[in-house]
Amino acid sequence: MRIAMGADHGGVGLKDDLAEQLRGQGHEVLDLGTNGSDSVDYPDFAHQVAQAILDDRADRGILVCGTGQGMAMAANKVPGVRAGVVSDTFSARMIAEHNDARILCLGARVVGPSLASAIVASYLGASFEGGRHATRVDMIKAIET
Ligand code: RB5
Repeated sequence: MRIAMGADHGGVGLKDDLAEQLRGQGHEVLDLGTNGSDSVDYPDFAHQVAQAILDDRADRGILVCGTGQGMAMAANKVPGVRAGVVSDTFSARMIAEHNDARILCLGARVVGPSLASAIVASYLGASFEGGRHATRVDMIKAIET
């Protein structure tokens, strides 16, 4: 799978660890930064990852900041891209199966590295179920317009 990744200074360490794991699993990672510990603004990275999905440069996105919340708020401002903040494996699967979320947001100050890896595996292993869920996702899209 092609996965776009982004983080701010609060999430860069976890983003880098997850990127290495995903590459080791055979995924194609598009790392859109940040790549250092300097303080940066999370909306820039949320926007870049969302745009990579809209441009079909990635199938899914993973955004990491301190809480995941700011990343999700910013990514969800981009029409056509749904992002969810997740701290458990069940919700990780559900945002893919029911909400067709193209972006997973993680809080590096909320979840530890092992749980984060399990969340990512659950998210990437799940697919949108369509059907009644498609109707509801279409309703979200209608709100955007
Ligand atoms: C940065 O200190 C922090 O605000 C950011 O990583 C994130 O938690 C915002 O939602």
